[in-house]
Amino acid sequence: MSVSALFDTVPREAAAVAPTLTIRRPDDWHVHLRDGAMLKAVFPFTAAQFRRGIIMPNLVPPVTSVDAARAYRERILQARPDGSDFTALMTCYLTDTTAPDEIEHGFKEGVWAAAKLYPAGATTNAHHGVTDILKLAPVLERMEKIGMPVLVHGEATDPAVDIFDREAVFMEQEMLPLLKRHQGLKVVVEHVTTAETVELVRAHAGRAAGTITPHHLIINRTSIFQGGLRPHLYCLPVAKRERHRIALREAVTSGDGNFFIGTDTAPHLRSAKQGECCSAGVFGGATALQTYVQVFEEEGALPHFEAFASENGARFYGLPLNEGTITLEKRPCRVAAVVAVGEEDVVVFRGGEELPWALGEVRG
Ligand code: NCD
Ligand code: ZN
Repeated sequence: MSVSALFDTVPREAAAVAPTLTIRRPDDWHVHLRDGAMLKAVFPFTAAQFRRGIIMPNLVPPVTSVDAARAYRERILQARPDGSDFTALMTCYLTDTTAPDEIEHGFKEGVWAAAKLYPAGATTNAHHGVTDILKLAPVLERMEKIGMPVLVHGEATDPAVDIFDREAVFMEQEMLPLLKRHQGLKVVVEHVTTAETVELVRAHAGRAAGTITPHHLIINRTSIFQGGLRPHLYCLPVAKRERHRIALREAVTSGDGNFFIGTDTAPHLRSAKQGECCSAGVFGGATALQTYVQVFEEEGALPHFEAFASENGARFYGLPLNEGTITLEKRPCRVAAVVAVGEEDVVVFRGGEELPWALGEVRG
C-alpha cells in the first residue's frame, strides 16, 4: 500500500487553506522495521516521515555482529521506497557473550550507532538478551570510552513482578545502579511509560535521555480493556495509569531537551496479534508524526514540537541536524484500518480514525 493510499482527505465545506507547520525533517530514534515482506510493507510509512531511524536489532536471529548489521542495513536500503533518502542507523543486540572489540570495531566502522540492551526475555525476541547486567560491565565500559550510547529496554524480567510494575522495578534495581557504575555512559531509556521514569531521566540530564512513543501519549492501561480486550493496543512496556500518560505528555511538550521521538513502531501480523497468545507491539509508525503533533497542539506546545521531533535526538547522539523540512497540515484526514502484508495485514494504530493533522510536503 502506498503512503497516500493510507490517508483519505476529509472534504470540508469551505475551501479554506489549511494552517501548516513546517519543521526540520525529524528522525525516529526507535523503530522495528522487521525484514522481508513486513519490511517492504511498513517501511514506506517510516520513510515518508523520518529522515533517519535507529533500527532495532531484535530479528530472528538477532543482529549481534557487525557483518549481520551490514547485511541487514543493505536489505533495508534495497527495500527503500523510490526517491527516499532514509538513513538506517544500526544497533547491536547485546547478549551475554558480546565482545567489547566487536562493539568498538562496528562503532568505529560507522556500522553501529548504538547498542540495545534487552534484559533476557523482557519482550518480543529478547530471549537472547542479557541475563546479568553486571556481567556486561566490560562492554559498557568500552562503550563509555568510545562515546557509544546504550539503549535500554527497562523492564524487570522476574515473572513474579506485576507487569504494570516491571518498569518501576527495573529502574530501581538495575537502571539507577547502572547509571551510578557508568557515570560517563550515554543511556537512552527507551519507551518511557511512567512519571517516575520521567523524573529519573531528568535527574540524569545530559547523560540519560528518554524516548516516548505516540501510543503511550494517547492510551492508558484502561484503553486496552475498553469495551473488551484490544490486542492491537498491547505492547511492552504496557501502557500505565492515566496519571502516567499525563506525565509523559508533560515531559514531551515541556521543551525539555532530554526527550525525543522513538515511535517503537512494532508491527505484527494480525494473526499474531489476534491469536491465542497476542504478541507485544503496536504498529504506530504510520500515524506517528500526526499523533505527536496533535499532542503538542492539544497541550498548547507547538513551539516546542520541532526540538522534540528533529533536534533533541540528534544532539544526544552527537549527529548533525537534518537539512530539509517537512510540512504538517491542519486538515482532517481519515486513516485506513490496515496495511496489507502479502495475503495478511497489520492493524494500524489509530486506523479508521479521523486525524486532525495530515502529512504535507517534504523538501530537501
Ligand atoms: C517490540 C517488538 O515487537 O519487536 N514490541 C513491543 O511491544 N514494543 C519489542 C520491544 O521494543 O519491546
Ligand atoms: Zn521497541
